[in-house]
Amino acid sequence: MKRKLRIGVAGLGRGFTFMLPTFARDARVALVGAADTRATARQLFAREFQAKTFDTVEALCADPEVEVVYVATPHQFHAQHASAAARAGKHLLIEKPMAIALSECDTIMEAVRKANIQLVVGHSHSFDAPYARARAMIDSGEFGSVRMITALNFTDFVYRPRRPEEMDTAKGGGAIFSQAAHQVDIVRLLAAARVTSVRAVAGDWDRARSMDGAYAAFLTFEHGATATLTYSGYGNFASDEWQGWIGEMGQKIIPRSKERLKFSDAADEATFKQSLNYGGENYRPAKTDPAGHHTFGTVIVSCERADVRPLPSGVMVYRQGASAFTPLPAPTIPRIEVIDELYDAVVNGVTPKHDGQWAKDTLDVCLAMSRSSQEGREINLKDQN
Ligand SMILES: NC(=O)c1ccc[n+]([C@@H]2O[C@H](COP(=O)([O-])OP(=O)(O)OC[C@H]3O[C@@H](n4cnc5c(N)ncnc54)[C@H](O)[C@@H]3O)[C@@H](O)[C@H]2O)c1
Repeated sequence: MKRKLRIGVAGLGRGFTFMLPTFARDARVALVGAADTRATARQLFAREFQAKTFDTVEALCADPEVEVVYVATPHQFHAQHASAAARAGKHLLIEKPMAIALSECDTIMEAVRKANIQLVVGHSHSFDAPYARARAMIDSGEFGSVRMITALNFTDFVYRPRRPEEMDTAKGGGAIFSQAAHQVDIVRLLAAARVTSVRAVAGDWDRARSMDGAYAAFLTFEHGATATLTYSGYGNFASDEWQGWIGEMGQKIIPRSKERLKFSDAADEATFKQSLNYGGENYRPAKTDPAGHHTFGTVIVSCERADVRPLPSGVMVYRQGASAFTPLPAPTIPRIEVIDELYDAVVNGVTPKHDGQWAKDTLDVCLAMSRSSQEGREINLKDQN
């Protein structure tokens, strides 16, 4: 029996509920504590896991039983909470995006270095098995070099219940911080090269819900490959249709029209979002029997001699008009790849792929997308590792 990672959760919100099936089912994990400002979330956690709860992240970090802190608080708190955990000598799993400014990433990495602890940033969809398998197949050399990546995702991101700051780009809100963090991570993994330039235009199309709700971006990589990233959160077309009606979390989707929620004001909306969260009156646990692997929209990697398409159940390869499918074994534990990487880092001292520098480089691309859109020009990136 492998030893367990003793994880303390900072922030029992939507991000946590998506990781909960992983934590609950992976025998390598013990949830030993949690911090949240909401009493109802603390009460449910204490009941479900017979574990200690705290009303501040700092108090959670002071608990000697906690070995790893999973930072799943809102984006603007990641730097503060991750630094507190590092100062207390705890290993870190930080939800994407790592932080909202490059200087905050530096602060976290410096604290991690000083404390000599491990840092993994995730979950982000670049952990998902179909992308890892596609990358391994490309690495075999059979298809030639990556030349062009096409990534598209159409969701209802804009119309999900939100906290006010989730709609404000300056505070880490909008589709670029929340969603490009996934898409950029995926195309960087598949291209396996530094991003050299970014041109992007963000879309804010509904005055009643003003935010970066869509974007189109064009990335170049140092080996000459390119990637186009298309994202719409306006809830019309759903790219789940192109994934065989398997959703982002590997769940079977039954297409249906959805009535848009109406709120009297931002506070009313935030209260409703809280009610859906862990411990809230409308909370429903995430489904734990996914029909497929997690993915993030449609992705096609065009190599010199083949187009490679990761799907929830495997990888399709198209060559000269013919297609061949490499199936993946059905997922046993969703997002098991996150625990694999965290466990290897903490227990075996293996440097993780999704470390601070990796996540900082992804944030750098996301920030360049925002800047490119605001300034109407291409941004050259010089500090990618
Ligand atoms: N990987 C994914 O698929 C995924 C999905 C959703 C969210 N996330 C990420 O999870 C993180 C949190 O976003 P969310 O959507 O869960 O937000 P949320 O509002 O649903 O949850 C945040 C939680 O943190 C708590 N909180 C807020 N301030 C706090 C503080 N100072 N101390 C302690 N607790 C505090 C809130 O009460 C709430 O329970 C973000 O980084 C987000 O990008 C990731």
